[in-house]
Amino acid sequence: MNDFRTIIEPFRIKSVEPLRLSTREEREARLREVGFNLFGLHSADVLIDLLTDSGTGAMSAEQWAALQRGDESYAGSPSFFRFEAAVKNLFDFKHVIPTHQGRAAEKILFSVVGGRGKVVPSNTLFDTTRANVEASGATGVDLLYPAGRQPSVPHPFKGNLDVEALERLIGEHGRDQVPLVLVTVTNNSGGGQPVSLENLRAVRAVCDRHQIPLFLDGCRFAENAWFIRQREPGQAHRDVVDIVRDMASVADGMTMSAKKDGMANIGGGLALDDDAWALKCRNLLILTEGFPTYGGLAGRDLEAIAQGLSEIVQHDYLRYRVRSTEYLGEALQKLGVPIVVPIGGHAVYLDARALLPHLTPLQYPGQALAVAMYREGGVRSCEIGTVMFGLSPDGTEKPAAMDLVRLAIPRRTYTQSHMDFVIEVVERVAKQAKQLKGLRIVEQPPALRHFSARFAEL
Ligand code: F0G
Repeated sequence: MNDFRTIIEPFRIKSVEPLRLSTREEREARLREVGFNLFGLHSADVLIDLLTDSGTGAMSAEQWAALQRGDESYAGSPSFFRFEAAVKNLFDFKHVIPTHQGRAAEKILFSVVGGRGKVVPSNTLFDTTRANVEASGATGVDLLYPAGRQPSVPHPFKGNLDVEALERLIGEHGRDQVPLVLVTVTNNSGGGQPVSLENLRAVRAVCDRHQIPLFLDGCRFAENAWFIRQREPGQAHRDVVDIVRDMASVADGMTMSAKKDGMANIGGGLALDDDAWALKCRNLLILTEGFPTYGGLAGRDLEAIAQGLSEIVQHDYLRYRVRSTEYLGEALQKLGVPIVVPIGGHAVYLDARALLPHLTPLQYPGQALAVAMYREGGVRSCEIGTVMFGLSPDGTEKPAAMDLVRLAIPRRTYTQSHMDFVIEVVERVAKQAKQLKGLRIVEQPPALRHFSARFAEL
């Protein structure tokens, strides 16, 4: 290790995309056109896009080279076998099933193991995961460790699952109703917070006692492993690859979106040990995604993911990744902007409810803050709060546990000066916090309303 104070981006830029800051008038007009829903914006009207870290990262020269190697054979392509080997190198499950993205893997898995009356416990289910659990007729239950629900309380592993609550839930419903336990690493909806190896092993012990399979939602497995290396006693000298293998070894399977720690623009998969489940999953895969050696992806996508999985576990990359996210978060803390602490792996989460105490949750403080950042400097972020989670299936509305705004950082895409610009935008918005107006919903679909609802300012 070197002893420089500055942690640089461990790459240089080979291909550039121009960015343009629109005028305030233009942004005001765009906001009105899209009903104050930032999902409706054309990305060309966005300067710095922190809507998501999913599929928005930059590929490496080696990944672009790997695309050329992509073999587009319908069945038995060598690109599939390279993909399978790269997955098994980290997650040694018997069956590896590619899908076009994470939610396709979720859809297939829960179609097989879900169903009416079933209960799927998790630390926190991501929104598409919950929707796929519920689409099967099953119920998803979030059993997050209590510290995970308090934005301002630091704890090294705020993604941990509450094992006592898990034990109680299994007692209440009976093991036959619980097809599997799903642990999301890192916990995206709870602030990008990691799960410790100790907690994974404790969950495993409960699962063993009741003979329930344990699955990972492994979207951000490498960031989780890096946090384990940094924060869990006895892990500091280990290679992250070995920590990932330890995480995998407690599980019976996983779903994954390769658009995050797969370092690819598209892709995902399902991996598991159970032969009978794998057979059913592959049969569904053929119905909805494609033949089992490509599963909804081109051969070149499989190559990009295989290469990405070898790059994501490099220590230089992970050190820069986590440090650069902290850089943004720490600067905002210095400005007095309330954020979820500790700072997560892929994103900084602003606590909009704390920053805008004059707005009630049903005036959507997270949405108001996200709109204000776009209006001020063309920065797009994402509300994770009452807009996203507040609408119950019966049509009633209630405040979400937290009203957050996520600044998700695409991998290897923006530089430190881009982040300095974002900091300046948040600083300006925070100064006007008291004047920011709440919103009301004027139009919304019955589910997943955050993607398409239209708002008006109060
Ligand atoms: N699980 C987690 C934890 C996720 O964060 C996501 C996607 C998925 C599953 C679904 O994967 O998009 O490939 O179908 N998260 C993105 C985000 C959309 O912005 O956080 P997908």
